[in-house]
Amino acid sequence: MKLFDVYPLFNITPVKASGCYVWDSEGNKYLDLYGGHAVISIGHSHPHYVSMISRQLNEIGFYSNSIQNPLQQELADKLGNISGYPDYQLFLCNSGAEANENAIKLASFVTGRKKFISFRKGFHGRTSAAVALTDNPKIIAPVNETGNAIILPFNDLEAVEAELKTGEIAAVIIEGIQGIGGINIPEPEFLESLGTLTNKYGGLLILDEIQSGYGRSGRFFAHQYTSVKPDIITVAKGMGNGFPIGGAMIRPDIKPWPGMLGTTFGGNHLACAAGIAVLDVMEEEKLIRHSEDIGNYLMEELSTISSEIQIRGKGLMIGLEFPGPVSGLRKKLLFESKIFTGVSGNNIIRLLPPLTLNKDEATYFLKVFAKTFQEVSASLNAN
Ligand SMILES: Cc1ncc(COP(=O)(O)O)c(C=O)c1O
Repeated sequence: MKLFDVYPLFNITPVKASGCYVWDSEGNKYLDLYGGHAVISIGHSHPHYVSMISRQLNEIGFYSNSIQNPLQQELADKLGNISGYPDYQLFLCNSGAEANENAIKLASFVTGRKKFISFRKGFHGRTSAAVALTDNPKIIAPVNETGNAIILPFNDLEAVEAELKTGEIAAVIIEGIQGIGGINIPEPEFLESLGTLTNKYGGLLILDEIQSGYGRSGRFFAHQYTSVKPDIITVAKGMGNGFPIGGAMIRPDIKPWPGMLGTTFGGNHLACAAGIAVLDVMEEEKLIRHSEDIGNYLMEELSTISSEIQIRGKGLMIGLEFPGPVSGLRKKLLFESKIFTGVSGNNIIRLLPPLTLNKDEATYFLKVFAKTFQEVSASLNAN
């Protein structure tokens, strides 16, 4: 059987990884400034993570959600404490899209409403409600087209209030920092006002922290640079350091009923072991603070390379926007210097390294990046 060919692939076959490094089948060693798309939070194959998952697998890897699994509560307690939301409730699932899908469904159940607001350049996943609220018509199939999704300009509070006033909006969904859209940070006052206005008009606020959460921004959640308190927060990516796990953190007074949400695999023993190991390491190695410090160092140094590069970001979620296409720069970094980076659109490089990236690794990247930028700067200006 052939694989369904939906991914443009680099001809690289990773076979081993450790910390911020990945090795391919030819023995080449790569520095990972992409973290497998913002997924690797505590570093590849962290020994504590490997030992927790291995030990769990030797005991019990999976049973259904019809039995007691104390690991779910252990994970919820740890996540509540480290995130500053100890009184919220956790629904566990398997991916980012599923976390958003459940958050959207929950907001609709709670309010009895059908319409949702999201923002231009936003990305919330590829399942039905999540993709309808994603600003990319190419990935919205006819079955996902709905009049219930209203996509508004980013940071436009008036537009949001005009829609909320109709009394038909179940929730507003927004990323803590837009990731796939090119590292766009919502204005703090905008985010805070979304909290006030959704509350005023009887809707909910869903913060999609799937990419920007779990310490990536230098806070546990990117929205914690502001005073907003969302009704639902969605998490995935860094939560399992590569093990598929996602979740929705839900305001304490929202009442569940049996069967309201559900999943076969969500919250299984192995996923919980992975999730607990991630939080252990984040705490032990103080990775949230570290992410802020190394991120600031990277952004300060990057800003000295060229005034043509626009730098946006917080912590280790950094976007570098160039006046022209970056594919040459990215390929040169990858194939000549063996450094993984991400992109957004044609002109933006995204840096999403493991949160364990140390100063020497960051300095090495900066040196190589500055040199490579000089070599390709003519093509970067070709608009
Ligand atoms: C902000 C955001 N939301 C949702 C998703 C979807 O997550 P998943 O690919 O795990 O379904 C992503 C994935 O990139 C994302 O960046």
